[in-house]
Amino acid sequence: MYETIQTLHSYWAYFVLFILIVAVANAIIGYTSNKKFVSKDLRLSLFALIFTHLQLVIGLILYFVSPFGMKMISDRGMGGMSSAERLLALEHPFVGILAIALITIGWSKHKKQQTDKGAFGKIALFYGLGLLLILSRLPWNQWLGLGM
Ligand code: HEM
Repeated sequence: MYETIQTLHSYWAYFVLFILIVAVANAIIGYTSNKKFVSKDLRLSLFALIFTHLQLVIGLILYFVSPFGMKMISDRGMGGMSSAERLLALEHPFVGILAIALITIGWSKHKKQQTDKGAFGKIALFYGLGLLLILSRLPWNQWLGLGM
């Protein structure tokens, strides 16, 4: 069970990062070159939203079955964790949730925009911030097999 969820979260991360980067780049290009916000742009933003939400669901399950999630906090206590352990058990999950909240806010704000530039702007800003937050707290070493 743990291994399956962990593997899923680990591989799904490639799709999440890929589609988020494409969605942010597309929104920045649309914003700066005053393009029309067409259905391709809507679909791309929606898929990025769905992919990150799926990762959130997988991540939440993982948090409760992984030895590096909640168990780590209860075993070691907040102050007893090394910085690598704190990254996995605390910073990555909570900053991830914050990032996904920002992406969701960006999605709902873009729908209320009257102009195409406004729609691209909201996606670029909120998805961009979310992406940066996610990248800043990924357990890179563990993911890429470089050790803790
Ligand atoms: C939204 C973007 C997210 C991305 C791209 C992402 C990606 C990753 C990656 C690449 C790893 C390392 C996997 C490995 O070592 O093979 C990981 C680990 C982990 N993630 Fe996420 N994650 C995200 C959100 C979340 C959320 C929201 C939670 C929980 C609420 C979460 C919980 C965890 C936990 C507990 C681990 C450690 C798992 C273990 O090795 O046992 N993640 N995540």
